[in-house]
Amino acid sequence: MAIAKININLKIWRQENSKSRGRLESYKVNDVSPDMSFLEMLDILNEDLIRRGELPVEFDSDCREGICGTCGMVINGIAHGPKRGTATCQLHMRQFHDGQTITVEPFRARAFPVIKDLVIDRSAFDRIISRGGYISVNTGSAPEANSILIPKEIADKAMDAAACIGCGACVAACPNASAALFTAAKISHLALLPQGNPERKTRVRLLTEQMDREGFGNCSNHAECEAVCPKLISIENIARMRREFWRALF
Ligand code: SF4
Ligand code: FES
Repeated sequence: MAIAKININLKIWRQENSKSRGRLESYKVNDVSPDMSFLEMLDILNEDLIRRGELPVEFDSDCREGICGTCGMVINGIAHGPKRGTATCQLHMRQFHDGQTITVEPFRARAFPVIKDLVIDRSAFDRIISRGGYISVNTGSAPEANSILIPKEIADKAMDAAACIGCGACVAACPNASAALFTAAKISHLALLPQGNPERKTRVRLLTEQMDREGFGNCSNHAECEAVCPKLISIENIARMRREFWRALF
């Protein structure tokens, strides 16, 4: 049985560069398969724009498997779109209906300046990680995996936090543009494991210091970050980051 194709109206943010003013431009994409991903639908739009001699819409993507965190955009007012726990590249057009108008905008935050159209500069996250979101102690060669026993409940919590892909949706959804969920995920996954313990206190101090320096806002517990996170990272990690911070102070 043939799959019914749909026609979509798009309103897409176009902005030449970080200095220029942006605006929403309207486009139509016809014969969209419901099995296409949102990015494949944008690929079709871009092929059409190139054929007409117009500039394609710039957007970031890499893995298209929900792993790399580059593909974030705000779709109908929601970071990564309407499907919970799903990155933009994993969102399918079956979430939309024939004739629907979809607004597509970049993630907006002072610390994430727009480079062009839907592409933003997320290097603020890299600078946070570079302050200590890793283990630098010399552990010699890789030890046997079972030589350090870790309770399953703790290992699960650490792995859940480690699932953060650094997409920035948490920042885009937060009314304060806070990076607390991202930073807390990085602090949590290392603080929970024995390997992360030696640098635990300096790590929380340096990462939170850099988070503030980058111009992200403060967390005031709206939990919008958790609602849009494609990896369903829990705000429980923010509470843990606060406990780690106070522990490091005293
Ligand atoms: S916490 Fe979630 S929303 Fe924020 S950067 Fe990580 S994966 Fe993306
Ligand atoms: S393109 Fe890699 S997470 Fe979407």
